[in-house]
This record gives sequence, structure tokens and C-alpha cells, in this order.
Amino acid sequence: QAIYLSDYQPPAYRVTRTELTFELEPHATRVRARLHLERHENYGHGEPLVLNGEQLTTLAVAVDGQALNDNEYRIEDERLTILRPPERFVLDTEVEINPSANTALEGLYVSGSMFCTQCEPEGFRRITWYPDRPDVMATFETTLIGDRDQLPVMLSNGNPVEWGELPGGRHFVTWQDPHPKPSYLFALVAGELEKLEDRFTTMSGREVTLQLWVEARNTDKTEWAMESLKRAMRWDEQAYGREYDLDRFMIVAVDDFNMGAMENKGLNIFNSAAVLANPATTTDAAFQRIDSIVAHEYFHNWSGNRVTCRDWFQLALKEGFTVFRDQSYTEDTQSAAVSRIQNVAMLRTAQFAEDAGPTAHPVRPDHFIEISNFYTLTVYEKGAEVVRMLRNLVGPETFRRGSDRYFERFDGQAVRVEDFVATMAEVSGLELDQFMRWYSQAGTPQLSVQGEYDGQTRQYHLTIEQHTPATPGQPEKPPLHIPIRMGLLGPDGEALELVVNGESRGTDTVLALQQECQSWTFEQLDAAPVPSLLRGFSAPVRLEHAWSRDELALLMRFDEDGFNRWDAGQRLALAALEDMMAAWRAGDAVKLDERLIEVWHGLLNAPADDRSVLAEMLRLPTEAWIAEQQSVVDVDAIHAAREAAIGQLADRLYADFERVYHANQLDVPYAPTPEQVAARSLKNVALSYLVATGEREPLMLAQAQFEADHNMTDARAALTLLAHSDASDLGDPAVRAFGERWAHDPLVMDQWFATQVTRPQQDVMERLKFLMEHQAFSLKNPNRVRALIGTFVNSNRVNFHRLDGEGYRLLADVVIELNRLNPEIAARMVTPLTRFRRFDEQRQQLMRAELERIRREPLSRNLYEVVEKALAE
Ligand code: ARG
Ligand code: ZN
Repeated sequence: QAIYLSDYQPPAYRVTRTELTFELEPHATRVRARLHLERHENYGHGEPLVLNGEQLTTLAVAVDGQALNDNEYRIEDERLTILRPPERFVLDTEVEINPSANTALEGLYVSGSMFCTQCEPEGFRRITWYPDRPDVMATFETTLIGDRDQLPVMLSNGNPVEWGELPGGRHFVTWQDPHPKPSYLFALVAGELEKLEDRFTTMSGREVTLQLWVEARNTDKTEWAMESLKRAMRWDEQAYGREYDLDRFMIVAVDDFNMGAMENKGLNIFNSAAVLANPATTTDAAFQRIDSIVAHEYFHNWSGNRVTCRDWFQLALKEGFTVFRDQSYTEDTQSAAVSRIQNVAMLRTAQFAEDAGPTAHPVRPDHFIEISNFYTLTVYEKGAEVVRMLRNLVGPETFRRGSDRYFERFDGQAVRVEDFVATMAEVSGLELDQFMRWYSQAGTPQLSVQGEYDGQTRQYHLTIEQHTPATPGQPEKPPLHIPIRMGLLGPDGEALELVVNGESRGTDTVLALQQECQSWTFEQLDAAPVPSLLRGFSAPVRLEHAWSRDELALLMRFDEDGFNRWDAGQRLALAALEDMMAAWRAGDAVKLDERLIEVWHGLLNAPADDRSVLAEMLRLPTEAWIAEQQSVVDVDAIHAAREAAIGQLADRLYADFERVYHANQLDVPYAPTPEQVAARSLKNVALSYLVATGEREPLMLAQAQFEADHNMTDARAALTLLAHSDASDLGDPAVRAFGERWAHDPLVMDQWFATQVTRPQQDVMERLKFLMEHQAFSLKNPNRVRALIGTFVNSNRVNFHRLDGEGYRLLADVVIELNRLNPEIAARMVTPLTRFRRFDEQRQQLMRAELERIRREPLSRNLYEVVEKALAE
């Protein structure tokens, strides 16, 4: 039941125009569709027309106004086949669907009191019979009919062209979208909504009306997203020459939503968590995430909508490129170094883990059972890294010429990854055939680097070897084309000139690794240099080199590349943590390397040019990243060593942290500006170290910060420290007060859930079970599930992996429930269990038993595909 890329066939019929009429009723919505169809040249007379449909009650089927006889069409296996249609005809169908019973949140569903849709990738077939594939593009005219009082606002793609009253207290609106689009970009929203409205004048002078639609209780959370939208529109004009192309652009906030947001033409639909913000309820991190998601969806108007995907295997064509575009936007508008650090940290933990697990797949998969399972970190984040490598290979100006040509040439078409890469090859003159392997080869390449200095010849030889480990279905991996940005540092940290073949390349250059093993020689060096490798994380690889700890400390202080300064710090800390884990296992004293304390003391006392980078440097490698370094993950040693390191840093550098804490208090009105975010970030990191001493005094500081309640960033940071402490006389009242104060706001309650279930102590299990019964929790809402269950299983590793198996059992129970309610979310949530091969024998057995228990259920396609892969072999 898998579908293969190599089986692609072009559609037999094109739809030139789609007319839809919805009579919106929560339990029984009628959908009439009129499709104007034309047979493609390559297909012969009488070629059947095949339409997709799921969970539709079919009421009528007619061709050119004539109802069909039983021998003129067939309905089977979620397909409607019109047997011998004319070359050019009009197909009318009428179906009934039940939006209020739709807990999968795909197609048309009810969220709170509103109707909304999610059609990507294959949700439109749950709305009406249709050739539901991205290479069928039509103009849409949509008429919405609904109750005047309950559904005063009814939105769809494009522009409203007609509206009016109907008998029986109903009204209607007709929307027209002049841009041909695939069905996955269709959207409708209806409900009692209020709007924030603004205007934007495009670079060529087009006046665009911007609207952000929310339920009345959320009108105080709309300003930030509107600002982001305008910033993103301007940025896309400047950075890519892309202009908006309709008279209005609408965003709607919806509470029940499987993903972050969706780029429907002219009518983006957002998970309310990805759009609603104000300082009292929203942390800095959430402000920044919202900014980047608003930009991401807006950027899709060109990278995705105007130029779309031929088939779903090409998903990275639009997602990888659009993530790269939103990352560039963030780098241009926030701290570039911090943004890169955060994106890479996420990629290296979560995407590398995916690449090393049973569901590993290439950036462009070549087969799938359920395409919804492929909205992954590999497609999105690694897909963005591949585009970034391309830009680094061809250079920014050429890249811009390439993107201009790509948008121009393929405007209005549904294309493939090859079309994008070939355009870049054409404008740059570069050979990118080998580079294409990045799209077809799964797994994370491993580079090992040897450096050798020869004092006689004053030469430094750098040898780099690449190897990509086997992944399921791909045993052999030919070498990739890997750009490695690098430089060399002298003994005092000075940047050395890179002389290759008698020619200077400045202090920073890119090596193109294309063979399995390659060497480069740098000349005219007076002493052994320290290499700074993979600057800016120029390729999504694991890189090994035997730096000494002193060399890492040098890089950390002096490298000209901010990302590599941070990375050297992470490597140094990792080395120290490895010693501590070994000591912990041997039952010895777990003592932190003095060098790390010294280096941090230096950091904390250096004049801070970029406080936000400093805050990142003061965070030890996460438990997830430490785990990624181990062949068998030792959950308990990781946790014990890391906690011990934090405690020792706190004790030894108390005065430094205390000074930093007080020096970074702000007394200006809140704004999520890079400077303010940096100060809060640094202050709260410092506070977390102070509290890690276990002393009472810093907890009192946290309590004061919690009670001052200046903004959610500070309140939540303080709450977390209180809730995770052993001082229940401080923690419990804070947790209670917060829960009561915000009981009316589900997005804040999500933070309340997340804070409580990351508590490292064992008693967290009782708390988790209690919260699953809390009235603010519901398995039907994906945000609640992610906040409570998702946070626990992914961010509370010591307790999820408890040897009594309670964490595993709890997750399996939840997944089994979700499988009935929302298959897409079920298949995502099960992920940590599928990684059982990374753990010790005992845990493997426990996890495998839970997966097998899940497998005995009647599984959705989504969950079936993931669980089968995990248990295969
Ligand atoms: N295209 C959306 C985005 O920009 C994601 C839609 C995913 N939908 C889904 N059902 N998996 O990220
Ligand atoms: Zn996207």
C-alpha cells in the first residue's frame, strides 16, 4: 500500500475552474461542487476520470447536467471513477459531510464555535470529490451559506464578490480566487470573529488590506502578528523581489490545529499558539516563534503557492526553501548568531536523531504510505540546510539571480526539486549532479578530520574523510558534495591567512569535499594552527576532530565565527561532562573540569558585545544532545552529570551570576526586541544557576520575580525554578496562583502544564496523571497534548525513561486513544518509543512491548506506517 515517486503519472484531466457551494451546518454540511474539466492531450478518448473522496455521503453525480446511471460511474476505495467522460465537460456532485465529528482536524471541521479547514496535504478529499493532487490547478469560486447570527463572518480564498441575505435567517458570501491553485491551498473559515485591520502598500504601489481574524476574547493578542506580517512582506520584496498579488491578505487564529499554520492562498490559518501574543501571556521565545511562522506562511505565497509542488514527494521544494527563507528573515531582523545557534541546536538533536532512527528518510522521500507522516524535521530543517548549502556554493548574488529566474520561469506551475537545483546550476555554471544526492540520500554524513603540521615545510595538511551510515533501505551511500567553511587560528587566537598553492584566500574559505577522502595544504605557517571547521554549520553533518581542551578554549574565545565560538564551548563542556559520567558510573566523585569553570569565569567577566550569544554560551549541552553522542544512551548518567556540573558552576561562580542577574534587570516597557530578549535571557540563565546552589536566598529572588509579574518571560522563568525546587512551601503556592490566575487562557495553561511536567523529581508522575484529568486538559486539542504529554516525553528524559516502565506505558495509552481521535497527532507522539534501539536492553524491552501493544490495535494508516518501521527486522 505504499506509493512510489517512480510511479508518477500526470493527471488525465485538468480542472480549469472549480465552483463550490457550502451550506454550513455543524453535523450535516452540504457541499456542491461544479468542476470544469478538460482531458489532457496525452490521454485518449474515453480515458476514465478518477476523483478522490473520503468519508463523503454522495447525494448526486451529474455530467453536463445529466445525472449519471449506475453503469456510468463507480464509487469504491475512496475513489469516484467517471467511466467514459467526454473530452471537455462539467461535473456536478453533491455530498454531505459531518464537520463536528471530525476530530482528525483534516478537511472541514469545527473548532470551538467556528468552522475551518486544513487541506494540506490530502484533506480536500474529505470535503468533496476532487482530483486531490497538487499538479491539478484551478481557479476557485466559493459560495458560503450559513446562519446569520452564528456565522456572521464567512471567509475563503481571494476576494469577496457578492453577498446578501437568504430566507430562514441565513446569508451568503461568494469569494473568487483568480490565481489557479491546487486543492490543498483551499480554505474556508466561518464563525463569530473580530478583526484587526491594517494596510500595506507593495513596492509597485498595490494597496493590500491586511486582516487578522480572532475570537472576541483574543482581540488583545493580535498586534504582534500584524507587525510581523508587515515586516515579512517588506523583507520579501527586498531580499527576493517578491510582491503580494491579491487585494487582501487574511490570517485566522484557530484553537484546534494539528500543526503551526497553513499558507492557504490569501487566507492563512494559524494555530492560535502560533499567532496570538501579548507581553502578559507570551514569552520572548513564543514572540520570536510567532514572528518566524507568520513570515514562513507569508513567504509560501511565492515558494509554494505561485510555484507549487508536482507531487508530495517534492514537499521539500516548498518547505525546505521556505524554512530557509524564514531563517534568513530572522537572521536579518534578530540576532543572526543566536538564531543560527538555536536552529542548529534543534537540527543536531532532533533531526539527527530522526536520521539515525527507524523512520529515517531522504529530504525527498521516494515512497510513503501516509504523506502526513513526512512533514518532518528532515524535510523542513534538513531541507532548509540543503538550500543554505546551495546559496553558499553559488554565492548570495548568484543565488538571488537563480531564485528570480526560478520564480519567473515556473510561475503558475507545479514543479520538482530538479527544477530548482537546475536553475541554480544554470545561473552559476556549477555542476550540481552530485549535490542532488542530498535530496535522495538519508542519514547524517560523518566527517573525520585530521590535521598535520610540518615545521620543516611550514605546511599544514588537512585531511577530511566522509562516511554516511546505512539507513533502512539504503545500505550504500556514495559521497556527497559538502561545503566546509573554515579558518585557522594561531597560538594566540589570531586569525591566520589561508595560503593555498601560493594564493591567499583571506582568513575564511570554503572547502568543497566531494570525494570519500580529500586533503588540502595550507602554506607559510610558523606554528601548528588550530583549525576552526564547519563555520556557521556550513553543512548538516557530524564532524569529528581531536581538538585538545585548550584548543577548544582558544576557539571559544577567539574564533571570528560566532557560531563556532559557541560550538567550541559545547564541545568543551561535552568533554567535561563525559569525564563526569564516567566518574558517576564508577561511583567516584563527580567533579567538573577546572578549565570549564575558568573559561566561564572569563566569559562572565568579558565585556559582552553580544549578550544574547553569551546567554547561549552559558547553557550546557542539553540532555538530548549529550544522548546523541552515545552509542547506548545512558539516561541517568547524563542527567546526574549535567545536574552536578550545573551545581558546581553555580557554587564556584556565584558572585558572577549574581552580578549578571542584577546587571540585566530592565526598567523599560516590555518589547520583544533583540536587546531586551538578550537581557532577559541572560538574567534568567543567571538566576537558574543561582537557584541551582540549592540555597534559599536565590529562590526568594525567583519568588520576587514571579510576584513582580512584569511579563510572561520573567514570570514563567521564575515559576519554573520554583516549581522544580524542593521547597514546596514556595513552589506549590506559585503553581496554584498561576493556575488560578490563567484558568481562562488555554495558551497560558499550556505553559502551566509544561512547567509542571518538566520537574525532574520522581513525584512528577503523580502530577502528570493529575493534570491529565484537569478540566483545562483535553486529548482532542493538539496544543494541550503537546504541552502536557509531548513536553513530558521529550523534555523529562529521566522520568519518561524510568525503569518501572511507567513513562512508556503512559505514552502508549495516550497514543492508543489518539489513534482513534487524531491519527496525525498519534503518529507524531509515538516517536520517542520508536527510538528504543538507542537504549539499554532493559529499556528496549519495555519500549518494544509498548509498541507491540499499540500494534495490536486497529491502526490508522499514519500510526501503522510508523510502528511497522520501528518494529521491522
Ligand atoms: N504547509 C504547512 C507549513 O507551512 C504545514 C501543513 C502541514 N499539514 C499537515 N497536515 N501535516 O508548514
Ligand atoms: Zn511551510
